[in-house]
Amino acid sequence: MKAFDIPFLDLSRQDAELAAELNEAFSLFLRRGIHVLGPEVSSLESEFAAFCGTSAGVGLASGTDALLLALKALGAQSGDEVITPALSAPPTAVAVSLAGAVPVYTDIDATTLCIDPSLVAERITARSRFLLVVHLYGRMADMGPLAAVAREHGLILLEDCAQAHGAAVSGKAAGTWGRAGSYSFYPTKNLGAYGDGGMVVTDDAGLAERLRSLRDYGRIDRDRLGEIGFNSRLDELQAALLRVKLGHLERWNRRRRELARRYLEGLDGLPLRLPRWDGGEEHCFHLFVVECEEREALRSHLEERGIQAAVHYPVPLHRQPPYRDGGAPPRSFPVTERVAAQALSLPLYPYLREDEQERIVEAVRDFFGVS
Ligand SMILES: Cc1ncc(COP(=O)(O)O)c(C=O)c1O
Repeated sequence: MKAFDIPFLDLSRQDAELAAELNEAFSLFLRRGIHVLGPEVSSLESEFAAFCGTSAGVGLASGTDALLLALKALGAQSGDEVITPALSAPPTAVAVSLAGAVPVYTDIDATTLCIDPSLVAERITARSRFLLVVHLYGRMADMGPLAAVAREHGLILLEDCAQAHGAAVSGKAAGTWGRAGSYSFYPTKNLGAYGDGGMVVTDDAGLAERLRSLRDYGRIDRDRLGEIGFNSRLDELQAALLRVKLGHLERWNRRRRELARRYLEGLDGLPLRLPRWDGGEEHCFHLFVVECEEREALRSHLEERGIQAAVHYPVPLHRQPPYRDGGAPPRSFPVTERVAAQALSLPLYPYLREDEQERIVEAVRDFFGVS
């Protein structure tokens, strides 16, 4: 594998800083001898729910499962249609399909890069049941109008917050706008575990109770099943380590915003489309995505200078082979297609050093011949 002077993400820096706290949490875990769904999971559930501003959180095995089980717990039936953006990480679509439902893709808004509220109504049919919003790249979708359109058409509003830990609109956090929000704790996320993990946050106590049963085979007590469920439990070790990291999340998100501000200043005036941001808390900058007409050339230029950039996501969901609808030409979603062709994620994470960021900015400016 190619080594980069400036990798896209280096998690070892975070681990080095937190080593003492993580070791302490690990020692406590070893002394206690409880491995799955114990006190660490319960504490993480309350603490992360409080961080988001909901009354309940249910720890699960991954962000994909969080979406899948939320859809199931909210009553998704075979053939139900779920209106969702054409641009997202593949698991958004996979979870919908695993729930037996059908994703109905919709174009994104050119500013938020999240689902465009003005295009939702035209995708509604008699089978539409859910509006699944994704806060892509840690930028919040336009939740006021999206909540209004869901209300008007009787759609269940669900938020995929896998990239949005700590993002909010008008002080209201990702995952609190609809019936439930699903989070991922995949290691690269703003709050990442040492393996897989996820959570659903909700204010609906009945929904939380059903999720607790669904994650544990569908059991209602030790010996009896209430329904056919899953094995999607969060383990104690992940929860213990996530609790340590949760204590640092706000500081890390502040640092992400600071680095984003520095990118916006350094890249201002170049022929790039930059994230529109007013400096508030609506973005948690999971990724710093610019749009460039010569994306591949810029990416190679950075690589030649030892800088690793990434593309999220070159293949929109409606063009993924399992969703190609029997080979029929896929629908065209112009903003989605443009972003898929032009998006480039520059390194941004709390431990990126300022001298590294300056090198990245200089290399991008140099690509455009601007010093
Ligand atoms: C938008 C989005 N949804 C869902 C997921 C799935 O999360 P996980 O990888 O924890 O299953 C991810 C993570 O990659 C994601 O980015």
